[in-house]
Amino acid sequence: MHIAVVGLSHRTAPVEVREKLSISEQSMEQTLKSLKGNDQVLEVSILSTCNRLEIYTLLRDHELGVDAIRDFLKSHSGLEEYDLYPHLFTFKQEEAVAHLMRVAAGLDSLVLGEGQILSQVKKMLRLGQDHHSMGPILNRLLTQAVSTGKRVRSETSLGTGAVSISSAAVELAQLKLGQSQGKDQLVSLEPEKVAVVGAGKMSRLLLQHLQAKGCSKLTLVNRTRPRAESLASDFPDLSVDCRLLDDLDHCLSSSSLVFTSTAAENPIIDASRLKPLRLGSLRLIDIGVPRNISADVEGIPGVDSHDVDDLQEVVSRNQEARKQVALEAEGLLKEEGRIFLEWWDSLEAVPTINQLRATLEGIRSEELQKALSRMGPDFSARERKVVEALSKGIINKILHTPVTQLRAPQSRGDRQQALKVVETLFKLDLSNDGK
Ligand SMILES: NC(=O)c1ccc[n+]([C@@H]2O[C@H](COP(=O)([O-])OP(=O)(O)OC[C@H]3O[C@@H](n4cnc5c(N)ncnc54)[C@H](OP(=O)(O)O)[C@@H]3O)[C@@H](O)[C@H]2O)c1
Repeated sequence: MHIAVVGLSHRTAPVEVREKLSISEQSMEQTLKSLKGNDQVLEVSILSTCNRLEIYTLLRDHELGVDAIRDFLKSHSGLEEYDLYPHLFTFKQEEAVAHLMRVAAGLDSLVLGEGQILSQVKKMLRLGQDHHSMGPILNRLLTQAVSTGKRVRSETSLGTGAVSISSAAVELAQLKLGQSQGKDQLVSLEPEKVAVVGAGKMSRLLLQHLQAKGCSKLTLVNRTRPRAESLASDFPDLSVDCRLLDDLDHCLSSSSLVFTSTAAENPIIDASRLKPLRLGSLRLIDIGVPRNISADVEGIPGVDSHDVDDLQEVVSRNQEARKQVALEAEGLLKEEGRIFLEWWDSLEAVPTINQLRATLEGIRSEELQKALSRMGPDFSARERKVVEALSKGIINKILHTPVTQLRAPQSRGDRQQALKVVETLFKLDLSNDGK
């Protein structure tokens, strides 16, 4: 059996490819079910975020299993092999474990150390559990990745500083505004007429950062009113005008800076919507994946549009300092990866340990029955219980040291040699068992 991850991320694929692979929460159950139905796939779970789609899996055979996952990704995306495969990565075993630890810690994120990815890894664990697509191996791996992400945030300074895709989006707006004024620096957003489309988690972060960067009033556009109003009420110092999507055209005409962050599967702003409007100068920043703003708006006079990949421009400005901080986390990630792999290696001893236990248990219960029948009916129920507990106690004490030794971290060769000795001495038959 082999652990593997197959997928793509902002490092390997542009947004126009990534958006074709995103899997919504509603279709996750069906997707996991169909992957699990493949003969090669023993366990599976999926990490689907705006910047990555990664399929973590336990495979019967590495090559055949990876081919099956790649085939799935091809048919799911509707892309041709030559448009998709060059963007895919595959990591196996130790590399797959190390990759997941880095992802959970935010070290593989576009915005180094951002915190949302940890919630998304938690969600992958929850969905895999809820839909029964995982077994003990992925359960343990993902649980450990979540605790690693938490450790990195609490034990290193990587978690300090509120960084996110939303904070980068606000910085990009500041940078572009500065550049339009001939300054290569971040400027206050105070003079901008700002609108935010969407009222979910990312929009909440947008509001936080917009407020921090000088914005005092904005329009919040959402598909439904209660969520927009609830979000607005959490920002009492920000004047928020809540609107429904029906008012979007009006909002676009009266804004100079619009952020979009909805989970809509198709663009909600495109050229056919913008062209008839009387627009001033309009800067659009879209952090949705799939994109909320169609690429066809490019070239419309007065419109300057950016998507999530354009955030790279601001991210690389402050990435150097964070890279230094990220080094602090590397040792911790190695330690967590090693702990998981030691546990995985120790599983090799499980069939032998189970057989050994079963053999000794057989001897114990046979000898106990003989002894009890010799004692006759005068032996009270309480005395029988004491003798039974004594026999169990002796077996457990005898087993404790060899079991601990067999499971302890050691080289593969040493463990296999120790297992062979135990199997020979106790004449264990493992022909129907195995890792
Ligand atoms: N979470 C992250 O870390 C992260 C990071 C970067 C980018 N993103 C991207 O940002 C976007 C929003 O993510 P989120 O985490 O904020 O999502 P979320 O908390 O689930 O919020 C989703 C928002 O999208 C709206 N929405 C859903 N379907 C819609 C549709 N068909 N038409 C119009 N509006 C629709 C919802 O409106 P209602 O309130 O009416 O349901 C809600 O305002 C997604 O595209 C995501 O890929 C997320």
